[in-house]
Amino acid sequence: MELNRRNFFKSAAAGAAFLPSFNILGDDAVAPDKRPIGPKDDQLNIAMIGFGAEGKVLGGSLARIPGIRVRAVCDIWKFQLNEARTYFEPYGMKDVALYEDYREMLDKEDKNIDAVVIATPDWMHCEHTCACLRAGKHVYCEKEMSNHLEQAAEMVRCQRETGKLLQIGHQRRSNPRYRHVFEKVVPQMLGRVTHAYAQWNRTLAGFTKHKHPPKPDVLMKYGYENAEQYFNWRWFHKYGGGSMVDLGSHQIDLFFWAWGVPPKSVTAIGGKDVFDPPRETYDNVMCLYEFEMPDGKVNRAYYQVVSSNGRGGFYEQFMGENATATIAEISACGNEVQRELRTGGTPLLEWQKFIDAGLILPIREPVKADDENKKNNIVVDTRPSRQARGNPIAVELNKPAHMPHLENFFAAVRHGEKLNCPAELAYESAVAVLAANRAVEERKTIYFKPEDFKVV
Ligand SMILES: NC(=O)c1ccc[n+]([C@@H]2O[C@H](COP(=O)([O-])OP(=O)(O)OC[C@H]3O[C@@H](n4cnc5c(N)ncnc54)[C@H](O)[C@@H]3O)[C@@H](O)[C@H]2O)c1
Repeated sequence: MELNRRNFFKSAAAGAAFLPSFNILGDDAVAPDKRPIGPKDDQLNIAMIGFGAEGKVLGGSLARIPGIRVRAVCDIWKFQLNEARTYFEPYGMKDVALYEDYREMLDKEDKNIDAVVIATPDWMHCEHTCACLRAGKHVYCEKEMSNHLEQAAEMVRCQRETGKLLQIGHQRRSNPRYRHVFEKVVPQMLGRVTHAYAQWNRTLAGFTKHKHPPKPDVLMKYGYENAEQYFNWRWFHKYGGGSMVDLGSHQIDLFFWAWGVPPKSVTAIGGKDVFDPPRETYDNVMCLYEFEMPDGKVNRAYYQVVSSNGRGGFYEQFMGENATATIAEISACGNEVQRELRTGGTPLLEWQKFIDAGLILPIREPVKADDENKKNNIVVDTRPSRQARGNPIAVELNKPAHMPHLENFFAAVRHGEKLNCPAELAYESAVAVLAANRAVEERKTIYFKPEDFKVV
């Protein structure tokens, strides 16, 4: 999780041990040492490529899913392989095979693995994914599909050719909170959603270093010019796409989900303001997307990612004629549905029925502000801008954030369940996200054609 990346960076910078697992969303239902393993024929054997910050997050979820066994881990940095050696032991997996080169792993472990989970830097996703698919493995690959659109398209083509499953790691697509919002709250409560807003504001700690980076010959062998670029790959064009691709990819994808159509244009500005000297990719971007709906009406979304100020954190907001839904992967950052009030304060919708139907929860605390204001002789403006209080979204996630998306992937492998984020779907948002960076670069509005979102 991005939220934890700073912690990871800090510990990496200090050369300290990594956290054994990440759980941003509360308690796990399954105690690590009581992890159930499915019957032999139901067990899926997994290899991982990339065991950095996100590899460990995914590993923590994998270890808790019944019937999943991690057989092999590949990473070019010995430090990570040492981590992987003992990482899965508390979950009853003692003999994880370790590899520096994924080709050797695919070769030697061919008979032992059913699927591969990939969490390498974006520029390697295409090579790793296609090699695994061609080796007959199902693949779960982290977002963004690639920092180069042509490579993302290649991943889609390769999936089609091989017929293997390819799930992309936009994990909100499987999160029950998000599914509840997009399947029930948005269609039943919001009315026409004319606008959406999302942000990811944070303060970056600076460039990452480590006392014992991979040796220069290893870095060179795997395409990194030096340790600085290897650790900070997001800030170099060759390896990543800066904040927009890193964080925006999660949130822009939700505009697609809400409206079910791709955008017709993106306008953006941005800059490289956080690092001194500035790095290659943008650390802040502000952009506007226009989505033309089937009835010809245009909906608009504003997105911003900021790396110098964490005000408000990260969340997504869908603003309808009748109500607004605000949601975040961590409910403390966004968790409410707020109704619109008519002039004079009459609610547009009868609200209790949504509480009764389990879409939202009752408001937990009574509003005290009006009483306080009266006491202090403060006049409160009650014209149409007056806001109703928001009700919490009725569904919580009590698992690690990535676990439902991995579970969906394994259900697809085992029983043919529909993937929540197949490659073709993820490709659409990749088009929109990568175009925002281009709009900043070229200082112009980029207009899309419907065929831009399809891979042929
Ligand atoms: N879904 C999410 O919430 C989420 C959150 C964070 C990161 N991510 C994604 O996960 C991926 C990894 O990000 P991260 O933060 O873990 O980066 P990271 O730098 O912490 O880890 C990347 C790991 O990949 C290894 N690696 C690099 N090249 C390799 C190669 N050729 N073969 C094998 N291993 C190689 C590195 O040694 C490192 O351990 C990125 O695509 C990122 O966008 C997703």
